[in-house]
Amino acid sequence: MFWDDVYKGTPPWDLNHPQPVFQALIQNGEIKPGRALDIGCGRGENAIMLAINGCDVTGIDLAEEAVSDAKVKAIERHAEVSFAIGNVLQMDRLLEENKFDIVIDSGLFHVIRDEDRPIFTQQIHRVLKDGGKYFMLCFSDKEPGEYELPRRASKAEIESIFSPLFDIIYIKDAVFDTLLNPRSRKGYLLSAVKS
Ligand SMILES: C[S@@+](CC[C@H](N)C(=O)[O-])C[C@H]1O[C@@H](n2cnc3c(N)ncnc32)[C@H](O)[C@@H]1O
Repeated sequence: MFWDDVYKGTPPWDLNHPQPVFQALIQNGEIKPGRALDIGCGRGENAIMLAINGCDVTGIDLAEEAVSDAKVKAIERHAEVSFAIGNVLQMDRLLEENKFDIVIDSGLFHVIRDEDRPIFTQQIHRVLKDGGKYFMLCFSDKEPGEYELPRRASKAEIESIFSPLFDIIYIKDAVFDTLLNPRSRKGYLLSAVKS
């Protein structure tokens, strides 16, 4: 499987520290202690950071290798996180509804295929409590270059995909930190509330 293969090495998003954007959301109080889910959690840096900051965290990812590394990392850092191998498009098989105050997504949305986007948004909506918040970081259409994947989203595209099920608080310019050269890539941060 593609995602297991990429974790045989160090993929460009695998920073070995949390995305600064999500750290800032903790620091400015937009993410408060509560039940949090990290979808496409990879090797777990963001999930572990949320747990260290008082959240009760679940992380899910398709890639077995990544989830097993995340579990080891959490133990090493004395962070309690419930990591599971799972497909975000089938979270109804894994997680009860109305369970989480917060869902975070660092680089998952922009790898989801167009045809899967409706089920993707429904699955996130389903696991959030009423009034629960979704924070999503993706590459933006302001990011230059010829590469096709992951796709760069426009604000209008993000709005049209999420507004049927969410009230959008903001979509703002954000830095997507990577191991590429240059490291900092242009992204959008979405903050949205389950409606
Ligand atoms: C760009 S990586 C970001 C990983 C992590 N959030 C981070 O910031 O390091 C996208 C992640 O989503 C996972 N993924 C892709 N499709 C998925 C799906 N349908 N369900 C769950 N995880 C998925 C991949 O295995 C990968 O770990």
